[in-house]
This record gives sequence, C-alpha cells and structure tokens, in this order.
Amino acid sequence: MTLLDELSAILGEAFAAAGLDAAYGRVARADRPDLAQFQCNGALAAAKAAKQNPRALAQSVLDKLDASDVFSETAIAGPGFINLALHDAWLAVRADGRNGWRSPSLEKLVIDYGGPNVAKPLHVGHLRAAIIGESLKRITRAAGDEVIGDAHLGDWGLQMGQLISELELREPDLPYFDIDAQGPFPADPPITLADLEAMYPAASAACKEDEARAGLAREATKALQDGRPGYRALWRHFVDLSVAAMKVDYADLGVDFDLWNGEADADPLIPEIADDLRDRGLLETSDGAEIIRVARDDDKKEMPPIIFRNSRGAVGYHATDVATIVDRVRNIGPDRMLYVVDARQRLHFEQVFRAVDRAGYFREDRLEHLWFGTMNGEDGKPFKTREGGTLKLRDFIDMVTDKARARLVENGLAEGYGEAETAEIAQKVGIAALKFADLSNPRTSDYIFDIDRFTSFEGKTGPYLLYARARIRSVLAKATGAGGVIAIAAPEERDLALALAGFADAHRDAYQKRLPHILCEHAFGLAQAFSKFYAACRIADEADDEVRASRIALAEAVAAQLDMIFDLLGLPAPNRM
Ligand code: ARG
Repeated sequence: MTLLDELSAILGEAFAAAGLDAAYGRVARADRPDLAQFQCNGALAAAKAAKQNPRALAQSVLDKLDASDVFSETAIAGPGFINLALHDAWLAVRADGRNGWRSPSLEKLVIDYGGPNVAKPLHVGHLRAAIIGESLKRITRAAGDEVIGDAHLGDWGLQMGQLISELELREPDLPYFDIDAQGPFPADPPITLADLEAMYPAASAACKEDEARAGLAREATKALQDGRPGYRALWRHFVDLSVAAMKVDYADLGVDFDLWNGEADADPLIPEIADDLRDRGLLETSDGAEIIRVARDDDKKEMPPIIFRNSRGAVGYHATDVATIVDRVRNIGPDRMLYVVDARQRLHFEQVFRAVDRAGYFREDRLEHLWFGTMNGEDGKPFKTREGGTLKLRDFIDMVTDKARARLVENGLAEGYGEAETAEIAQKVGIAALKFADLSNPRTSDYIFDIDRFTSFEGKTGPYLLYARARIRSVLAKATGAGGVIAIAAPEERDLALALAGFADAHRDAYQKRLPHILCEHAFGLAQAFSKFYAACRIADEADDEVRASRIALAEAVAAQLDMIFDLLGLPAPNRM
C-alpha cells in the first residue's frame, strides 16, 4: 500500500463512520507544504452532495477519526479542507521507502517502442520513443506486469524497394538481381553498412526527383513482398547490417528490447487476414485499393479508411500494424499493447485500433498510443544537426558526452581518476543528461533541446541527480557504524522522511498515467531534501551514536531509493565523480 492509500483508508473510515461514502476520504499531499503535510478535500464534495455546511461536515468526520497514533495534527482550514500532519514516529517507520508500487491486477503487456527503420537514420522522434519506451517498460515491469518490449523495426516499406532498386541500378550483375535465381545466395553481404547508409539518401532523393525511378522502387517493393528470392536475400542482408549497428547505439543509450520483430514478421499473416476481412465484408475495394472503413457516426473529425493494400497490390504501414496485432495475439497473448510513438502518428493509430476492434481481433480500449511531443532545436522545429541534417544517434551521443566532459572539468569533478574511468564517467553523465531531460519533460509536451542547461550540475537535471547520488555514497563511505532505527527530530529529517515515503505513490502515478516525468519530479524532490538535510545535520561526524545511526539509515534509504528510480528511468550512474 502506498502512503497516500494508507492515509486515505484511515480518512475513509472516518467518513464512513460519519455516514458518508469512504471514497471522500482521499488524501493528497498538501498544496501548501508550509501549512500542512497532507490534505483531504472530500468534505467539500460530500457537503455539496448532501447539501450541508462543509466545515460542519468536516468536523463530524474529524469527530469520528480514530487515529491519534497517526496524526499529530488535524485541522479544518478555509471552506472545509482537512489539513493533516503525521506523528514523527509513525512517519519514521515508513521512511525506508525502498519499495515501489505493486499493481493489484497483473497484466501481460507488449510495449512497442523505438521503432527504428532499416537503413534510415534515426530521427529525434525515435530517440524519444526509445528513451520513454524503455522507462515505461521498466516502470510497468517493476509494478509486477509481465512486459515484452518490441522494437518493431520498419523493415517492410517503400524504403526497402528504394534500396533494392538503387543497388540494382548500381550493380546489376549481382546474383540477387537474376530474376530466375532461386538461391542459395552468398552468405556475406554485398555491401557494407557505410554503403547502405550512403545509398539510402541517394535512393530516396532520386525517387523524389524522377517518377520513373520511383516506379522502379515501387515495383521492387512489390516484388520483395511477393517473395522474389534474390530480393528477399538482399533484404535480409540490409536488415542484418542495420540491426547490428542499431544494437550498439541502443546499448549505449541503455535501451534493450526483448524482441527485434519487424513489420516483415507479420507479413505472412496478411493473405489470411485479408481473406477473413473480405469474407466478413469488412474489406472493401475502392479505386483498386483494399480498404477498411473506420469512421463512426459521432466522429468530430474526418476519419479516413485504412488502406490495407494499395492499388498496386503492395501492403503498407496500416496493414503491417493490423497484422502485427494479430501476430501478437496469437504468439504472445497480451492483455494490452502500448505504443510509444510520436504524436504525429495519432491518426494512424486511431485508424489501426478502430480497424482491429471492428474486426474483433483486439479491443480498442486495450490498445494505448502513448504519444509524445517533439524534441525541438532552438528554432522551435524538430532538432537537426548544425548542417540541417537528420540526427544520427551516434553523433548525438558523442556530442553530449563531449559536453559532459567539459562540464566535469569546469566543476572540478572526476579529477585524477585516469583516462578510462573519466571517459566512462563522461559518457554516463552525458547519457543521463540526455535521458533525464527527455523524461522529465512531460511526455505529451514538446521541449527545446538545450545542451547547456541539460548538462548543468545545478537544477532539475540528470547530472545534478548523479552528483547527489555520488555524494550520498561518499558520505556513507566515510561514516563509521551501521544504520540504525530512524528517529525524526530536525525539520530537515522530517522533510526527507516525507520525501522518501512518497516513492510508491510516485511510482503508482507514473504507472497509471504512463508518465515517467512524475518519477523525475519525485527524484529531484528527494535529492533536494537530502541536500537540505546534509547541510543542516551532521551525519558521519555526528557524536551521538543513536542519532548518527538514524541519519546513516536515512542516507542509506535515499541511496537505495535513488538507485531504484535510476533503474526505473533507465539512467546510468557512476559510483564516484
Ligand atoms: N518505424 C516507424 C517510424 O519510423 C515507427 C514504428 C512504430 N510502431 C508501430 N507499431 N507502428 O515512424
């Protein structure tokens, strides 16, 4: 049970004893921490419903409240708020705060995140998808859900046909292009990763400029999807080259998928899904294409149909997403599927979710598009490199690592540690800066990438938290004696205990709302409370044995809780700086 749940249950009993609905007893952190620790606003709503005076009703609830061991203070404030403060002794035993929240209804989840595309450079949308998705995977898993993270590679679209036709134009004599060849084909790829990465922009530009060239790409896409052996073999090489490189980048970013499935994996299901939909009258032909209508009478905006197969017979993004859902139902059997994908794809997912619901494949209310805003550059447009190009994850990681290194030097940190450790610390600080900035901005907002602010050791930043963690560890390393029973005396100890005791609530909120920034706020509040405690109270050099043991126990609890939060957010942390 979380602290707020526990307090709400106590207040709820008092409301029930006063003849009111226990649900009115919901307790929250006080809006004004200078006036109270917690508050319950239920008397206002209860009084409104019962047409009574709220202050009088609040008093009748307090008369029934039987919790003198819990609350040191209960008071009615303003129009009928109930303000509450906890006894230090009651709080102290809840200050450990090492446990997050456990969900009462354990579910099996698939989280579809990352979504990188074969041979295409990652753009900022992919960066956020990876960082937020990884954190949501950890947050849900820690709550007890069984969670499967799937990268859902973009490996089946037009870009594959563009690449195949590009190579065919450049090197028509390769065995893959012999239309009669059935294989086997060479085991080694005919090109390198660098070739592949260079080929993609060339192919995509050529297709934009030249309609005939674009036609070749479409034909190649269709032939690939129809199973032409040489194209399939070539495609496999492209995917393998790309995935090997992606794995290295994602590992540096602390992102790790359970499944590396792609759009292509669901492709074999498409013919039978099409037959099923057609038989049931759900697949209609329109201008030579096969579509599924998803509009509803009460729609406020236009809701175009899904294009299941285009007029040239090729399947695209809609169909592979429908088929992927069917595939997951069969092979994984999840209770829910969560998609951590750019806000720009909201219409796409709404269409797909409606289509699978209409077909009876999976319920719409168990499909969640957890969309996110854009990481912008200072011009307010999606972040680009200085040259105006798309972000390459590798370059981006290098950029923040360099900046982090400069920051360490500026702050006189990690001095004299030797080159290997300094480099490792700089990388961790850089990645933590980048990830914390991304996670602490509410998922649904856009934000501006400000490398100076994000890498600063002051303010609500990853480096600040890393530093706080390292400092607590160094304090603990210096302290003699073990942690003992927590006893609260100083106000800074009380505030720190209150912060610690809020962890499970923060975890629950972040889980239920699918918003990792709630945990970032909590972590920042905890680190700040520790700083004040550290400034006001002696720890390692406290003379009184019992007081020292209590303070060591508080510091240990902070260190343990920060570690858990870092794990939930997917932040790396050096042990010293
Ligand atoms: N590859 C896609 C893109 O770059 C993202 C995939 C998201 N997941 C999905 N099931 N559609 O836009």
